[in-house]
Amino acid sequence: MDPKTTHPDTIAAQALGWIDEATRAITPPLHVSTTYLRDPDNQYRSGRVYARADNPAFDQAEAVINALEGGHQALLFASGMAAATAVFQALAPGDHVLAPKVMYWSLRNWLMTFATQWGLQVELIDMTSPAAVQAALKPGKTKLVWVETPANPLWTVTDIAATAKLAHDAGALLAVDSTVATPLLTRPLALGADIVMHAATKYLNGHSDVIAGALVGRQDSDYWQRVRKVRAQLGGTLGSFEAWLLLRGLRTLHLRVRAACAGAQRIAEHFHGHPHVAEVLYPGLPSSPGHAVSKAQMCGGFGGMLSIRVAGGAKGGEAAAIAVAANTQLWKRATSLGGTESLIEHRASVEGVGTPAPPDLLRLSVGIEDAGNLIADLEQALAAAHA
Ligand SMILES: Cc1ncc(COP(=O)(O)O)c(C=O)c1O
Repeated sequence: MDPKTTHPDTIAAQALGWIDEATRAITPPLHVSTTYLRDPDNQYRSGRVYARADNPAFDQAEAVINALEGGHQALLFASGMAAATAVFQALAPGDHVLAPKVMYWSLRNWLMTFATQWGLQVELIDMTSPAAVQAALKPGKTKLVWVETPANPLWTVTDIAATAKLAHDAGALLAVDSTVATPLLTRPLALGADIVMHAATKYLNGHSDVIAGALVGRQDSDYWQRVRKVRAQLGGTLGSFEAWLLLRGLRTLHLRVRAACAGAQRIAEHFHGHPHVAEVLYPGLPSSPGHAVSKAQMCGGFGGMLSIRVAGGAKGGEAAAIAVAANTQLWKRATSLGGTESLIEHRASVEGVGTPAPPDLLRLSVGIEDAGNLIADLEQALAAAHA
């Protein structure tokens, strides 16, 4: 199957059409060996030595993710965090990096603590503003710009092509956390990014049963080889069974993402202007500040993630929001995103001090259930909280 001429739906459904030549099986065997035999003449012609660095269990999932992103190579990691931190750990102490103020909170925390203590100069900026990016770049000193779009938990949108140009003009790489967009809705490498990161825990696997991460590089380079070394030496390596499950999840990525996008769009439109909802944050709404940019760089939908700000009433917005999350039946009150089941979460309770999430904000991960059922459940939870 030629990934350049094959539709992404076909690439995903058939996992690139691979079959196991040894058995004619159409799904891969589960490779669990941690080590590989050395040749009699002391060589390792198989190219494999030890499974912390390389594992045949990764080959097919990496190839599918790479084909979907249009990259040079994909690497699986033990988690989204292991993938994201490898991007920064491949830099050198003293390097200056830019990251958004609104981004996945755990990575922001790591950047402001561990990465800063290790010597990176981390600056958090408004990544939705090209003027702010331009002003913060230090040519020759800034080595990486990190973008997340749409970004947790406000679903702010960054123009990847414009930011890539600014970063490159200053001699920096651009890395994009595209977890929420998925390779089906946005292809950051085609827009000029150098690295794409996925928390494969989310949509790529899609069933809330695997923690995994992935990076896709646009081209080979000394920097990319350092990223490979970070995985091999620090050991943020995925397990074989998790890689096997991830490949199984990837086969239905297009169906799940399409259903989640359609559901999220319907839910956003339904609750926009609702008397118990102060604001709906979703780039698919024409009134959203990120709508025009997302329309240009996302294709086929605006993602399955949105947030609502619950109107206060007598109890105040925070109490009302927590009550709504407690009152839902179908929506599961849990963190994470990108699974088949819809999740609801009071985000400020998770992120704590320093969160950009207003106290009345509920983050919604729309699954693949019937959108009418999800709307009815939220309606009853909002009504109960405002009774
Ligand atoms: C956008 C985004 N990036 C990265 C991560 C980290 O992924 P993981 O939990 O697999 O480490 C998450 C997890 O929620 C996420 O939502």
